[in-house]
Amino acid sequence: MQILIPAERIQARIRELAGQIEADYPADDEIHLVCVLKGGFVFMADLVRAMGPRVTLDFIAVSSYGTGKKSSGEVRMLKDLDSRLEGRHVIIVEDIVDTGLTLTYLQDILRARAPRTLRTACFLSKPSRRVVDVTVEYVGFTIDDHFVVGYGLDYGERYRNLQDISVLDGADG
Ligand code: IMP
Ligand code: MG
Repeated sequence: MQILIPAERIQARIRELAGQIEADYPADDEIHLVCVLKGGFVFMADLVRAMGPRVTLDFIAVSSYGTGKKSSGEVRMLKDLDSRLEGRHVIIVEDIVDTGLTLTYLQDILRARAPRTLRTACFLSKPSRRVVDVTVEYVGFTIDDHFVVGYGLDYGERYRNLQDISVLDGADG
């Protein structure tokens, strides 16, 4: 494994993103962050702790990949939200946008719940892999077509706990 984005760079970028997000919403308006499990959990935890007291949060779980590296193109809801989104400022917090299929699905179902605003924050983006055109307002880092792990991202459920983003060698997909 080769480190692509070291932990210190990640933390600096998180602080920038948090500042940008807070500046984009009217002062004192609540901002409701929806973390996409499992990959989004580290990004979410760092992001909310870099933001002020007007943040609320919830979790949703979908499955888009099996245990390997290839997308099935199929998205299944595994766990729905506990909270209502109607009239709220909602931000989807996701680990990575690859083909864009997962986010397109999520944006569609959450938009149908009538939030006041709906935006998306992705820690990573791999634009060269995009299959559908999906809007992501906040991107941590744009990367080339590598399979990466760490900072929430896994390969076969491992490596989510690593603090850097690393490229996994011998990728088959
Ligand atoms: P998409 O639907 O193809 O955009 O896939 C998004 C999901 O695939 C992400 O939420 C990740 O769970 C997973 N994924 C895509 N690329 C990678 C990667 O490089 N490493 C780990 N997981 C990935
Ligand atoms: Mg994910």
